[in-house]
Amino acid sequence: MQIFLDTANLAEIREVASWGVLAGVTTNPSLIAREGGDFLETIHEICEIVKGPVSAETVAPDVEGMLREGRLLATVHPHVVVKVPLTEAGIATTRRLADEGIRVNVTLCFQASQALLAGLAGAAYISPFVGRLDDVSWDGTDLIRQIVGVYANSATIHTKVLAASIRHPLHLVDAALAGADVATAPYKVLKACIRHPLTDSGNAQFLADWAKVPERDISLLVEKWRAKRRS
Ligand code: E4P
Repeated sequence: MQIFLDTANLAEIREVASWGVLAGVTTNPSLIAREGGDFLETIHEICEIVKGPVSAETVAPDVEGMLREGRLLATVHPHVVVKVPLTEAGIATTRRLADEGIRVNVTLCFQASQALLAGLAGAAYISPFVGRLDDVSWDGTDLIRQIVGVYANSATIHTKVLAASIRHPLHLVDAALAGADVATAPYKVLKACIRHPLTDSGNAQFLADWAKVPERDISLLVEKWRAKRRS
């Protein structure tokens, strides 16, 4: 499973990109509004940082508006994936954009039947919202499992399952085990994926023990070791 970052914050994207594990970014109107600034400039800059798909969402309510916005967004950078909501207009737009060779991420998916329609319309990605379902006592991970199963039984569907609305590290692990192709997580969740108190205390102990070793500069040790082997 690949990992995308769910943010429009450039500092967060730069930091996670430097870890060498970031495969893409998703944004939405709320995330863009939170950062302020120029929408298209932000999307372009994200695309320059991340060598992978970057979702930019349309905001028009109807097919003609979504098509117009989607086509324009796709011209901003080759990495742009046009994001549309899972409405009737969104499905019709997906079909049209897919036929034009523009990749579409269909977002706000809360049931497998929606994902089936998006897949048949030629979506590149379907975004089931795991956390928002869990918030209302539905099993978000179970939806991932259902969609993966539905797509496995549909020979003409090549849509990737992009687990979204990820709230904590366990959501990422559950999405991977359920067969999601990608999970998009906020910065704080990715940080939480790395931190563990036992890692921190174990590392502190290793370093404290190493500090007691008389000759502990590894560069000097390697130099001495090489000289010894040469002689
Ligand atoms: C996905 O593309 C969405 O931007 C995002 O995952 C929504 O997450 P939220 O439920 O935390 O707002």
